[in-house]
Amino acid sequence: MCGIVGILGRHEASPILVEALKRLEYRGYDSAGLATVNDGHLERRRAVGKLVNLSDLLVREPLAGKAGIGHTRWATHGAPNLANTHPHRAGPVAVVHNGIIENYRELRAELTELGTGHSTDTDTETVALLAQHYLEAGHPPREAAMRTIARLEGAYALLFLFDGEPDLLIAARKGSPLAVGHGDGEMFVGSDAIALAPLTERITYLEEGDCAIIARDSVEIVDENGNIANREMRRIEIDPAQIDKGGHRHFMAKEIAEQPTVISDALRHYLTEDGRDVVLPGTGVDFAGIDRMVLVACGTAYYACLTAKYWFEQLAGLPVDVDIASEFRYRHPPIPDRTAALFVSQSGETADTLAALRYASGRADSLLSVVNVPESSIARESDVALPILAGAEIGVASTKAFTCQLTVLLLMALRAGRDRGKLDAEALADRLSALRGLPAILNRVLARDSEFREAARALAEAGNALYLGRGLMYPLALEGALKMKEISYIHAEAYASGELKHGPIALIDKTMPVIVMAPCDALFGKTVSNMQEVMARGGRVLLITDAEGAQQQDDGVWRQVILPQVDPALTPILYALPAQLLAYHTAVAKGTDVDQPRNLAKSVTVE
Ligand code: G6P
Repeated sequence: MCGIVGILGRHEASPILVEALKRLEYRGYDSAGLATVNDGHLERRRAVGKLVNLSDLLVREPLAGKAGIGHTRWATHGAPNLANTHPHRAGPVAVVHNGIIENYRELRAELTELGTGHSTDTDTETVALLAQHYLEAGHPPREAAMRTIARLEGAYALLFLFDGEPDLLIAARKGSPLAVGHGDGEMFVGSDAIALAPLTERITYLEEGDCAIIARDSVEIVDENGNIANREMRRIEIDPAQIDKGGHRHFMAKEIAEQPTVISDALRHYLTEDGRDVVLPGTGVDFAGIDRMVLVACGTAYYACLTAKYWFEQLAGLPVDVDIASEFRYRHPPIPDRTAALFVSQSGETADTLAALRYASGRADSLLSVVNVPESSIARESDVALPILAGAEIGVASTKAFTCQLTVLLLMALRAGRDRGKLDAEALADRLSALRGLPAILNRVLARDSEFREAARALAEAGNALYLGRGLMYPLALEGALKMKEISYIHAEAYASGELKHGPIALIDKTMPVIVMAPCDALFGKTVSNMQEVMARGGRVLLITDAEGAQQQDDGVWRQVILPQVDPALTPILYALPAQLLAYHTAVAKGTDVDQPRNLAKSVTVE
């Protein structure tokens, strides 16, 4: 979603702002713009489309000044056209915004009554107009910004820049993250630490309701009650290699390839030195003291939760409900006693997941989270936050974060099995030993990239695709279909194999590829029957299985991908690879924008 950067620097701001916006491209956007204060005067440049359009504009019409703000916009209110592109300016003030101002219509009506017209369809322009109104009423910039912020309802990260004020930025956070970076005689602001990575490692995260008054050599933070707040300055070191494609054509390809390494990192973090037990951080999680869990997330993280349901139930005898965050938060579900609530989120900032966590706060026995960004809101508001240690994930389609989420969730389920007396020490050690061997197996599968490329060439011709799986493979089928539609724009749906006859079988004809994910486990025979039903109706089956499965079923399938045989509990992590690689190569064959698919955002910080 929208990316924000700001600089009070020692050098020309425009090129630094554009570079910082490039590091935020991964969040998804459809237009971009900058404003600076040069010789005391506010000026701005904006362009629709990719950042290269803004860069080209800046070559033709340079923007001088050492103080500036920048924005990549993911349209919410109003089409992605030039008028709606940020920064929004109203006379002496320019504003960039991430989030949604829910009461902008009321504010706009109030301003219209006072004779102030608007020229865009955005909610953000109203913020600029309101600030202008307070400036014109004689309030100094700081006061005008504070008065404006006090009138806003909804979610926002905001940055204000003023005419005649080359040493002042005002930042505000409510619902959308914002970080202040400390330089030497210069200050920066960014939506996340990645934007600020090469500029500084010294970061202060604003808290909910904070407002920061930033000068070149100081920052004053005021909390939501108007009191001066002391916020910790942390050192956030981001390895530049993590925000670089490292020789790969796309971030997604790099992140798929990194999986064996990051999963090993996660295992090292959570296993005892002898590898026979799982150690959870902090006070740990009292799995023996709860009767059920509720798992809540969005998107790919939701499918990780669906997988974890099978694990917690089968390995630990712990009943689990799984919910989509946007449903959970408004359904107001009762949360029985002795329930732990677990929130899974790569970014740790997804608005619905955060709201769901806040709903569960005070209702559930404990609030757990599995996150990739340890400084995120979800991590900070949980009782126990378990990092997945995937490193920065830039591709919009989640890959390594998914398999690292699965790894951490499986470790939790195994630990729960031990704590609840369902697994003895030997059985736990055996499972962990199999898990430790998994990264090497994943490497072997990744080395077979060309096989997936070839299968994908055929899939790229399809207009629709169906994914089928049973048991642990059902959530994987859902994730495979999601990956496919996200980046290749092929309409893909997933069903539990047993549901085939309850509707989707009507769609089967010879143009429909059906991707069946089926290791040779206890349910294999049943899935094969469903596959036969597809083939009997002319459907083209791409079977992803292991050698034993292939031996039992080689008649009539269109294509086969044979994966190594692993402990059945580990199959979701292994089968994630073909799901990702098929989608990736299909998208490449179709020539779509793999890392920044149309309309999608990496971190969905608005509802
Ligand atoms: C967006 C992203 C997905 C992600 C989902 C949840 O839709 O494009 O990749 O799975 O949000 O994000 P989270 O950061 O909470 O895992």
